[in-house]
Amino acid sequence: MTALNSDAFVFFGATGDLAHKKIFPALYNMVRRDGLDIPIIGMARAGWTLDKLRERARESAQQAGDFDADSFAKLSALLHYVDGDYTAPATFKSLRQALGSATQPIHYLAIPPSMFSSVVQGLAKSGCADNARVIVEKPFGRDLATAQALDRTLHEVFAEPSIFRIDHYLGKEAVQNLLYFRFANAFLEPIWNRQYIRDIQITMAENFGVQGRGAFYEEVGAIRDVVQNHLLQVIALLAMDAPVGHETQSMQAEKLRLFRAMRPIDPAEVIRGQFRGYRNEKGVAAKSQVETFAALRLHIDTWRWADVPFYIRAGKCLPITATEVIVNLKSPPLAVFAGTDIPPSNYFRFRLSPEVVICAGALVKHNGEGMHGEPVELIARHHDPGEKPPYERLLSDAIHGDTSLFTQDQSVEAAWKVVDPMLKDSLPVTEYEPGSWGPASSANIMIGGETWHDPHVEEASP
Ligand code: BG6
Repeated sequence: MTALNSDAFVFFGATGDLAHKKIFPALYNMVRRDGLDIPIIGMARAGWTLDKLRERARESAQQAGDFDADSFAKLSALLHYVDGDYTAPATFKSLRQALGSATQPIHYLAIPPSMFSSVVQGLAKSGCADNARVIVEKPFGRDLATAQALDRTLHEVFAEPSIFRIDHYLGKEAVQNLLYFRFANAFLEPIWNRQYIRDIQITMAENFGVQGRGAFYEEVGAIRDVVQNHLLQVIALLAMDAPVGHETQSMQAEKLRLFRAMRPIDPAEVIRGQFRGYRNEKGVAAKSQVETFAALRLHIDTWRWADVPFYIRAGKCLPITATEVIVNLKSPPLAVFAGTDIPPSNYFRFRLSPEVVICAGALVKHNGEGMHGEPVELIARHHDPGEKPPYERLLSDAIHGDTSLFTQDQSVEAAWKVVDPMLKDSLPVTEYEPGSWGPASSANIMIGGETWHDPHVEEASP
């Protein structure tokens, strides 16, 4: 059955940072590229006017680049603005009026989770939730218990298939390519298991700090901000079994099985770090114990992955901005070429951000006498600058009722079960120098002589 398209787009938090940086540019491109033409209703309690919102939307669209005045005029004509307190019934009455003849709106809650309950209740009581969908932003809870409470709040009014939880990593071309590369090719499956794979590493490095978001970051920290969601989602795509059938539900069921097979993290296998200077950021406590860096070891208890360590590392103020996965294969059993060591193992490298790269690392013989090796990379895919930004893809999917790139209640909860032990334990935080790869102790969680692979600046395509 084809899902019906939403006939109005409502977004709460219309005057906020997310709206400015991501939502307006996405809406503008949806109008420009895909001819989006449903009413767009911005909600906020900022005392703004429609003109002010339009001005803000224009700035966002201009900053997103490639500005086209005609397309912006179309977006501007679709915009409405409703100002009001999210706890007041009058706000939702005004929204109902602004919705006009729309019968199946989609509501985007780009607001802190503490406000979800009053907004969801307001939508229900005013009739705005009838036949509607809802999009929710991360962070989806602070731990398992709060995520479950949020789900209860949403489920009081919306059925699970009408709830779209955004994890923008799932909207990235490179992340979808992980799944495609794995399951569209026959050569990977025979080696994609504990017989051939030694370990898998993922590093999400950012060469900047908290960028004025100190107060937000104090509530979150690296584990809640990017590990519980973005990075565990990537691991799930790397490690899940092939789905049975083409339906979205089959894919989601396999992902859920994988999340449930992840062993809750042992706090002894976690290193937390904080960059020097973080405590001077606005909104950050003078003795803050919040981590801006985390490194950890994860285990997946399945026949495919038993004893294969998955290493995860994420941090702010590291030497480079790049997210990269390395899948290290085991070494050949013997050194065939006399006088040489057993060559280093082969690997697959998936650069997820900022470029898109898939390549295999191999050794070839160095020209000349003797049997000496030279490492090369066989590059399968390079970056396409025309890639649709994740928010554009995800919001468009939500409007069309396609849930395939969104996260479900059970898998989000399963992911919280994995990280909960390290959130509860008051693990020490080690200071690190900005521009370094985090605390040196992050090497201690590696086993079998493994070391971290540090992403480098990607070479341009040949
Ligand atoms: C967000 C985090 O979810 O992802 C940020 O809150 C982080 O802290 C960002 O910087 C990274 O996303 P991207 O797409 O820029 O790699």
